[in-house]
Amino acid sequence: MNDAIIRRSSGTPGLDEMISGGFPFPSVLLVAGSAGTGKTTFAQKFLFEGAKNGEQCIFFTTLSEPTQWMLRFSSQFEFVDPEYFGREIVYIDIGHDIRERGSHEILDVLDEKIAEIMPQRIVIDPITIVCDFIEDNYRTFLFDLVTRLKNWDCVTVLTGEVAPGQLYPPEIAHAVDGIVLLMYSHEGDERRKYIEVLKMRGTNHVTGKQSIDITTEEGIVVLKSKF
Ligand SMILES: Nc1ncnc2c1ncn2[C@@H]1O[C@H](COP(=O)(O)OP(=O)(O)OP(=O)(O)O)[C@@H](O)[C@H]1O
Ligand SMILES: [Mg+2]
Repeated sequence: MNDAIIRRSSGTPGLDEMISGGFPFPSVLLVAGSAGTGKTTFAQKFLFEGAKNGEQCIFFTTLSEPTQWMLRFSSQFEFVDPEYFGREIVYIDIGHDIRERGSHEILDVLDEKIAEIMPQRIVIDPITIVCDFIEDNYRTFLFDLVTRLKNWDCVTVLTGEVAPGQLYPPEIAHAVDGIVLLMYSHEGDERRKYIEVLKMRGTNHVTGKQSIDITTEEGIVVLKSKF
């Protein structure tokens, strides 16, 4: 008999049903999309889902927006409960480390924090910014990062910024266990939002893009008309 894969809820209503019940545990996932598609919202909801169930979580912010700004915006969502801040969900700004340190040191900083907190859920938002600052090979850095994250018993969501029209950052796509795309498309005067599961190892998942809404109550919600 095959070993059953343990799954953890993604936190995004409708997504677990698309991926046989949830993200494989442990795993490293990439959530990719262009500006404003909902990557940070997705990542926050993923951690609040864990926190709600007593899991320990870390949100590493990188460079695109200081933690306080990010939290100020995220706090507009009803699911963001400041009760969890600094307890079940620890926010750590690694922007300075990314600017000032080499790739090996960045990996050591991450490892050190993870060893201290022992989380079941980790977010790094966005990972793609690291590419602008590390001097040596970006692909090697990403491969080492994913390998190290896989040593911990947790589910990690890395967010990836892409230019409009680009699907995902290609450097990281092969290293991760799963890829979720967030995107917009124009239909006449309307701009619609979609989610697509491009890859999820060990998982029979729905293919093709599905409509989503971003709501104040729950963040991203998959509209179930297509499956
Ligand atoms: N309270 C809210 N209710 C509904 N939709 C919201 C709310 N707040 C933000 N949004 C939507 O979510 C989008 C921003 O999502 P988010 O910040 O998660 O995107 P992102 O992909 O992380 O963007 P960036 O690449 O700029 O970091 C907004 O552009 C808006 O469309
Ligand atoms: Mg963001």
